[in-house]
Amino acid sequence: MHTTVGIIGGGPAGLLLARLLHTAGIDSVVLESRDRRYVEQRQRAGILEQATVDALRACGAGARLDAEGMVHDGIELRFDRRAHRVDFPSLADGRRVTVYAQTEVVKDLIALQLAEGGPLLFEAEVHAVEGADTDRPSIHYTHEGEEQTLTCDYVVGCDGFHGVARNAVPEHLRTTYERVYPYSWLGILADAPPAADELIYAHSDRGFALASMRSPSVSRLYLQVPNGTDPAEWSDDRIWDELDARFALDADPGWRLKRGPITSKSVLPMRSHVTEPMAYGQVLLAGDAAHIVPPTGAKGLNLAAADVIVLARALTHWHATGATDLLESYSDTCLRRVWRAEHFSYFMTTTLHTAPDQSPFETRLQISQLDRVATSHHAAAELAENYTGLPLPTGP
Ligand code: FAD
Ligand code: DHB
Repeated sequence: MHTTVGIIGGGPAGLLLARLLHTAGIDSVVLESRDRRYVEQRQRAGILEQATVDALRACGAGARLDAEGMVHDGIELRFDRRAHRVDFPSLADGRRVTVYAQTEVVKDLIALQLAEGGPLLFEAEVHAVEGADTDRPSIHYTHEGEEQTLTCDYVVGCDGFHGVARNAVPEHLRTTYERVYPYSWLGILADAPPAADELIYAHSDRGFALASMRSPSVSRLYLQVPNGTDPAEWSDDRIWDELDARFALDADPGWRLKRGPITSKSVLPMRSHVTEPMAYGQVLLAGDAAHIVPPTGAKGLNLAAADVIVLARALTHWHATGATDLLESYSDTCLRRVWRAEHFSYFMTTTLHTAPDQSPFETRLQISQLDRVATSHHAAAELAENYTGLPLPTGP
C-alpha cells in the first residue's frame, strides 16, 4: 500500500492531522496500535486553548464541542489559605479556554475519519520506519496477524512518548532534554458536581491539588502524591478529606468539595522531555512523540494540536506547489513554541508543588511568586497569556 502521508498513532495529534489533511485534499493512512474503545476511553487532558478549539471547528469537528464544551474565563489560585482569581479575557486579549475532555475530542475525530477520511486502522502496531532519508520512506507494521508495509511520501510520528518513530532520527543527530519530577498526581473522576464554576489550582503545606471537571455532574480532581504511590492506598474518604484539607480557606472555613462516588483512580508520573530536532529527512515528529510536559499547565494536548496545525500547513503548501521550505523549517518553528510551553509547565509545576526535600526558604519563595501573580497586572498577564495559549505562527 502507498499513501501520501503515513501517520503513526491515532491519538489527538495523529487524528487531527489526518482530518486537516483530508480537508486539504491530501490522502493519509493512520496506524494505531490499540483498539478503538481503548483509545476513546483513555482518560487524559481536559483543557483546550482557543487555537485548538478554532482548529477543531475549522475542520468540521466543532459541533459537539460547541454544544457540550464549557467556556472558562479564568482560574482560581489558592495559596496561603487564601483565594485569588486570574481573569483571562482582561489579561490576555480576550482569550478564554474550553473544558472539553480529550476522550471527547478523540471520539469526534475518529467518527469523522471513519465516515469521510482515509483508512484508520486500529490494532495496527508499527515496528519500524525505514528510509527516512529517501523520498519513499516506509512503515512496517502488523495488522490482523500479518506483517505489512506502507510506503509514503512523508511519515509523521504521532505515536506518543513510548512510540517508535523517534528512532527514525539517527541517534547521533538527536538531542534529548529531560527532567523527571519527584512527585506524581493521583487523578480521580467522581460523579459529583464541580467544586466551583472554574478550575482551582491549590498550593498548600500538604502539597498541590487541582479541581477540574468533565461536565456539570462529573468532577476531575488531582492530588500531589509521592512517586510510586499505589492508588489502592487511597480510600475514597481519605481522598476527599485530603482534597478538602488542601483547598482550605481561612476566609471560608466551612468550604468543602461536593462529594460523590469515585469512578476511577490512577497515578500519573510527571516528566518534561524534548527531543530535537522534530524531523529527519521525510520523517516528522508531532505531539508527545517529540515532547512531554508535566500536566500542571494543561499544555500537552494543546502542544500536540499546535504541531499538527503547523505541519498540515507545511504539507498543504508542499502538495500544492512542490516547495519544501515550510517542511524544512517545521522543527524550528515548533520548537520555539514548545520550549515556551515547557517553561510555563515547569513554572506552574515547581511553583505549586512541594518537593520532598523542599526547604522552608523555597516554600516562602513559592508563596511570594503566587502573591506576585495576585498583586501585579504584569505577572498575572504573563500567566494568563501562557495558560490560554500563545499565538500560533502565522501561515504562508
Ligand atoms: P498520544 O495521545 O500518546 O497518542 C499516541 C498514539 O500512538 C496512542 O494512541 C498510541 O496507542 C499510539 N501508538 C504508540 N505506539 C505505537 C506504535 N508503535 N504503532 C502504532 N501506534 C502507536 N495533558 C494535559 O494537558 N492534562 C492532563 O491532565 C493530562 N493527563 C495525562 C495523563 C496521562 C496518563 C498521559 C500519558 C498524558 C496526559 N496528558 C495530559 C498529556 C496529553 O494527554 C498528551 O499530551 C496528548 O495525549 C498528546 O497527544 P499525542 O497524540 O501526541 O499522543
Ligand atoms: C485538567 C488537567 C490539567 O493538567 C490541568 O492543568 C487542568 C485540567 C483536566 O484533566 O481537567
